Amino acid sequence: MSVTETIHPAHPPAFWLRDNCPCAECRDPRTGQKLFQITDLPDGLAIGAVRSGVPAADGSPGLEMRWEPDGHRSVYPQAWLTAHAPGAAPATGAPHAGDGRTEADKETWAAADLAGRIPEAGWDAYIGDRRVRMRTLESVVRLGFVLLRGVPPRDRMVLDVARTFGFVRETNYGELFEVRVEADPNNLAFTGARITPHTDNPYRDPIPTLQLLHCLSNEARGGDSGLVDGFRAAALLRAEDPDAFAVLTRVPVEFAFADARTELRAHRPLIGVDPLGRIREIRFNNRSIGTLHQPAAVVEEFYAAYRSFAELLLRPELQLDFRLAPGDCVVFDNTRLLHARTAFAESGARHLQGAYADLDGLLSTLSVLRRGGDRS
Ligand code: OGA
Ligand code: ZN
Ligand code: ZN
Repeated sequence: MSVTETIHPAHPPAFWLRDNCPCAECRDPRTGQKLFQITDLPDGLAIGAVRSGVPAADGSPGLEMRWEPDGHRSVYPQAWLTAHAPGAAPATGAPHAGDGRTEADKETWAAADLAGRIPEAGWDAYIGDRRVRMRTLESVVRLGFVLLRGVPPRDRMVLDVARTFGFVRETNYGELFEVRVEADPNNLAFTGARITPHTDNPYRDPIPTLQLLHCLSNEARGGDSGLVDGFRAAALLRAEDPDAFAVLTRVPVEFAFADARTELRAHRPLIGVDPLGRIREIRFNNRSIGTLHQPAAVVEEFYAAYRSFAELLLRPELQLDFRLAPGDCVVFDNTRLLHARTAFAESGARHLQGAYADLDGLLSTLSVLRRGGDRS
């Protein structure tokens, strides 16, 4: 059936609709990319005649629109309009689905929640089985980490692990960094010192969003690992001390790192929130937090809030403790999880190789896997 309708008040806003025109004049059919500028659309753009039951380019039932004043013709698949029109419930059912990076789309945890169910996968299954690969990467997205077991404890293997889902982020520490006792360390990580829960590289902007730590040997006394879900901790702070939470989302903090060849700094709050106030990014590192330059009253309230958050992050019930064995590689979201290690005897053999990568690449790999592509 094909009927001519007049403009319906429930039609989506004209510029939104026209910006999404799927026709070959508006979108390059090879790449799907837009061929026009938003400024190319005429002033006074309005929906003219509308007909339903017109087949869309993909053959599905569509809605045809004629545009005033330029006479352009668009045909929108009905299913696309239902799924995307402003005011329609997003696919997830949430009123504001967001970008998948905030607390709204995560399963936050305390240590007991993961007792007996640490997300892990064997390296051979991960490489050989597409569904295992999907589950593994989903764990990083949902819980913030995964533990890969049986990764060959070979030099530079951590880079091969990163390349299974994304791209290595090279930094001043190199393509990879050696976590072992160094004679002349430029970072406390390269000594036997205890390292309390922190995120890495907060002095970098953009920050590496993923970190990998691959264990080659761990024979030293001590050197056990810990992970804390920073989103859970920040949500607890918000519940227990909303003013402190607000301060930490608001006050930009300078993080800095310097050695003979490098000088890095970034200004960011400890708790980053999205435009709707949802927790999206944690930066916390007592080693590299710099000097706060703010009025005295702000400094006072910042330090009170910083101490409250730091105490909360040290609560034993929040920290998942485990010990890396040779062949283990932990992959984690460096914008959400904090990692820690206990002190270890510098005489013992402990050697990890670390690398950075980014969540966007991992999310892309996961989306392609979900499409059913990249079969192996
Ligand atoms: C690091 C670090 C943890 C460890 O190198 O950034 O936190 O287990 N290392 O040695
Ligand atoms: Zn068009
Ligand atoms: Zn670290």
